[in-house]
Amino acid sequence: MLEKIENLKREFDAEIQNANDKNAVLNIKARYIGKTGKISEILNEIRDASIEVKKSVGAKSNEIKIEIGEKIDKKMQQIETDEINENLAKNWVDVTLTDSKKDLGLNCAGYHPVSIVQREIEDIFISMGFEILDGPHIEDDYHNFEALNIPSTHPARDMQDTFWFSDKKHLLRTHTSTIQVRGMESHKPPFKFVGPGKVFRCEATDASHEVAFHQLEGMLVDENVSVANLIYFMKTLLSEIFKKEVEVRLRPGFFPFVEPGFELDIRCLNCGGKGCPVCKQSGWLELLPCGMVHPNVLKYGKIDTEKYNGFAFGLGLDRLVMMRYKIDDIRHIHGGDLRFVKQFAEF
Ligand code: PHE
Repeated sequence: MLEKIENLKREFDAEIQNANDKNAVLNIKARYIGKTGKISEILNEIRDASIEVKKSVGAKSNEIKIEIGEKIDKKMQQIETDEINENLAKNWVDVTLTDSKKDLGLNCAGYHPVSIVQREIEDIFISMGFEILDGPHIEDDYHNFEALNIPSTHPARDMQDTFWFSDKKHLLRTHTSTIQVRGMESHKPPFKFVGPGKVFRCEATDASHEVAFHQLEGMLVDENVSVANLIYFMKTLLSEIFKKEVEVRLRPGFFPFVEPGFELDIRCLNCGGKGCPVCKQSGWLELLPCGMVHPNVLKYGKIDTEKYNGFAFGLGLDRLVMMRYKIDDIRHIHGGDLRFVKQFAEF
């Protein structure tokens, strides 16, 4: 009987060596150590044998059974590794490979002017200790309106004609102020961050209005924040961007999520203040709506309004780009015309 077990083991060794896919291995497993497999057969055969035979054959069978089990596991692992390697070899891609450089947007045109200015502003804010946050283009009512103190009945919703999805619950965000709400959800005060991004409004387009444009939201929450702090940060930002003192004016402005709210205008750099289509002949450009965060907004953000307050602003990125590069029509920015984009090649 012991010899039979030895033979069985030799047979198994030969078979397992030749098996080269998972099914074959599973088949061998069933035939040798399965419930009705060869080992079980042997154990059945010795059911009526003497205690000594049972002991020795039983022990040997168990030993072989364990050995077979281990070899099967090893073989399975080996087959899996081979499969992975084979797959890698088949689907191998050289990620460093570049084809003709002239077809790549980056090489033929450079960064888009909005990207150039956005990165520059991010750097300015990073140097002032701000974090950069992101948020989704598709938002829900809560993040775009409700948590910003704009309940569904509020007429301020009319200020932002909106692209709603057919479920009437989701929309393309109308402003980056959604990032304020998301920032408060993920941060404990004190904090300061900016959130750049694309926003969408159902607008009639003209030289200074587009249905999709860029904003850069900013929020700072701490103890004892004042309007003076807000003005300081805004002035630092603008003089860094334009590399010179820019003429600004502050007017009261209404936004439900700030109190008090302001419109920070800059003297139109396109026409020097004489009046042009970009500034709607007024000589001034509305660039930076801002204000002290409304306590209701902080409450939605679960912030203790007894202890903390803050300011927020929403920079119109496209307008800034237009000022910087003296672009006279916002529609160029989204026109996708390479002759336009090529002029700003910076890497
Ligand atoms: N979200 C406002 C808008 O798009 C701008 C804004 C941001 C105003 C932050 C005040 C504070 O019109």
